[in-house]
Amino acid sequence: MTLHETASPSTVDGLAVVVVAAGSGTRLGYGMPKALVPVAGRTLLEWALGTVREALPAASVVVTVPAGDTELSAVARGMGAAAVTGGATRAQSVARALAALPGRTTHVLVHDAARCLTPPAVFERVVTALSAGSRAVVPVTEVTDTVRGVDSEGRSAGTVDRSALRAVQTPQGFERELLERVNAAAGLLSGPAPSNPAKEGVQGPGPAGPAGPGVPRGHAAHRAVAQGRDPEGITDDASLVERYAPEHPVDLVAGHAESFKITRPVDLLLARAVVESRA
Ligand code: C5P
Repeated sequence: MTLHETASPSTVDGLAVVVVAAGSGTRLGYGMPKALVPVAGRTLLEWALGTVREALPAASVVVTVPAGDTELSAVARGMGAAAVTGGATRAQSVARALAALPGRTTHVLVHDAARCLTPPAVFERVVTALSAGSRAVVPVTEVTDTVRGVDSEGRSAGTVDRSALRAVQTPQGFERELLERVNAAAGLLSGPAPSNPAKEGVQGPGPAGPAGPGVPRGHAAHRAVAQGRDPEGITDDASLVERYAPEHPVDLVAGHAESFKITRPVDLLLARAVVESRA
């Protein structure tokens, strides 16, 4: 990436954005992939890609779509993005998108289509941190609920000090080499990225292969991946860095309340209200 400490993030070279949209949307209960659900006349994917384009007009964009999809792929292509078939889990979808990045990519943002209203300022904060030398950066917000731990039986284990907690959002930003390395270590991605640029409509590269250097075959993470599960304790991209490259700190920037993830029907009500308030 060209480092312009004071320049707009839109001038950055070598930046790619992975927008994961291959989820089924079961919890939303709309009977269609979540990214196709409309909010004020536009699908979630259109909102998400609109923000990415606004914040980072020069970035390459790769969208993960469900197997057999045609509609989300058409939306992606119509907005200048490539579409790849996602995997069984979010992490596996991200890995498939990484395998389809343009060869010139040096830095990657990974963003949930389900966080379709993330303000451009959040993208800019993440890119600015990468420009300043961060190798892994996530947007976070303070936790507003009181949080209580529970034991394995579901019994209360006491209140957790929420001042020491942060809720993690996307887009999460990474140096490409680091993100690929930790995906390989987890068994999500085999070998180095291909040098061929992502093509419009390209489909995914098939199941992830065995891991990178130093990780023995039969490793628990690899068994999980082979069974279509995520490695235990891995809930986002940054947690892969913490697990497999702990020498690299994960830096934090401010997220935004409007960057909430649309998961349940009530989140759609909130999204419609946010869109109305912006009009
Ligand atoms: O299910 P959840 O909302 O937590 O998923 C977060 C994001 O990951 C969504 O945008 C969803 O479309 C995406 N995803 C994916 N591939 C999967 C599962 C989820 O791209 N297998």
